[in-house]
Amino acid sequence: MIHRALLTGLTSIFMLTSAAAIADPASDEKAKKMASNAGCFTCHSLKHQEAKDGSKPIGPAWEDVSVQYKNKPGAADFLTRVVLEGSNPYSSHWNKKVSGIAMPPNAVAITEGDARQVVFWILSLK
Ligand code: HEC
Repeated sequence: MIHRALLTGLTSIFMLTSAAAIADPASDEKAKKMASNAGCFTCHSLKHQEAKDGSKPIGPAWEDVSVQYKNKPGAADFLTRVVLEGSNPYSSHWNKKVSGIAMPPNAVAITEGDARQVVFWILSLK
């Protein structure tokens, strides 16, 4: 019984992973919409931007996130947790590169499944 549940869980993870691995404009648009509805773009841009006045963005550009985490094992799981639970204000992963505020937990704004899809999309950006 436990094995069956585990297998079902693993299968859906694989399905999600392979779905994200195929560049699919429709699912990219869907992920973008989910992010937009959840308010992610209040603090994130897609592309890296240098402000003329030298000020730092609130959160890292998602293309930069993609570059930073792309081929790291477990990155999708890890980032999904950070998105849902928020980042640790005392150990920023973007020290000195962004505003320095912590990302608040987003579990109120987005479901775990949707967060995972947005993260897969972010990781596919660069
Ligand atoms: C109130 C501003 C704010 C909102 C809203 C916000 N973020 Fe963030 N996000 C941040 C900040 C600030 C960081 C950098 C955290 C750090 O320094 O470790 C960050 C980091 C991240 C990272 C990288 C995490 C890491 O540990 O490197 C991802 C991925 C991310 N956000 C995705 C999202 C998604 C998806 C949403 C919407 C559901 C979202 N963010 C909404 C501010 C925000």
